[in-house]
Amino acid sequence: MADGFKKELITGNPSFEQSLRNKRIALIFFENSTRTRFSFEIAARHLGAGTLNFSASSSSVSKGESLADTIKNLEAMQVDAFVLRHPSSGAADLITGITSKNVINAGDGSHEHPTQALLDMFTLREYFGKIEGLRVIIIGDVLHSRVARSNIYGLLAAGAEIGICCPITLMPPDADRLGITLFTNLDKAIAWADTAIVLRLQLERATGGYLPSLEEYSVYYGLTDERLERIQKHLLVLHPGPINREIEISNNVADRIQPPGYSKSMLLEQVTNGVAVRMAVLKTLLTNEKSFA
Ligand code: CP
Repeated sequence: MADGFKKELITGNPSFEQSLRNKRIALIFFENSTRTRFSFEIAARHLGAGTLNFSASSSSVSKGESLADTIKNLEAMQVDAFVLRHPSSGAADLITGITSKNVINAGDGSHEHPTQALLDMFTLREYFGKIEGLRVIIIGDVLHSRVARSNIYGLLAAGAEIGICCPITLMPPDADRLGITLFTNLDKAIAWADTAIVLRLQLERATGGYLPSLEEYSVYYGLTDERLERIQKHLLVLHPGPINREIEISNNVADRIQPPGYSKSMLLEQVTNGVAVRMAVLKTLLTNEKSFA
């Protein structure tokens, strides 16, 4: 389904069936977002749904209303689905026990970001033709990353081999039980991989002695042209965004979408794919379509 939506989107003048006409989708974002929030909004509108935008600071949450009461009140207004981003791990799961409506996790704390993983998998499948057997290295702040966790679960289920590469302080405590390969040396990790998902170093969470300094992190774990050239490795590069330029990824690597060079960046392709994938998610959930792929 997402393939068809993508083809239509890139015509520049898409005209989609209005299969979600008369549906209302509440976008409940307790954390900032550019890609996820706008792509869900665009996806919903392409399919004819109405969207309600919620921000904590301009809602009654600022007067002390709880998340549960907020959801119950929106449900009473006949909202059909909730797209929730929240800083607390487990928040989306919590509200599935409060509402009978569809709940889509748009990122909960350090736990999961399932639609990001779906769009990353879509991007990899589109480029390589399949996911099975692909070696994917996830580089960076794995400990705090909901994107990493969802990609590990999704890509393993689809038959990929997964490696993670980060300083030992940013390895999740359960890393050795996930069925993945662990690296602390970036050159070895890249040499092993077919493609890389580079993670944002979560500067807002990564305080408290995880890293000696950003400069040192950048030297040992930054993905740069110089590193790829030195180890003579061509690499397809994904990043969920937002990016910290010249920290986890150099400008050249982030921005190079065409040869020549040792890397090819999929960063903006991922964003386009995010709209197509989220259209497929919304349509599948709200029309009970059986086939998502
Ligand atoms: N990838 C991602 O979740 O980006 P946003 O925080 O901008 O939504």
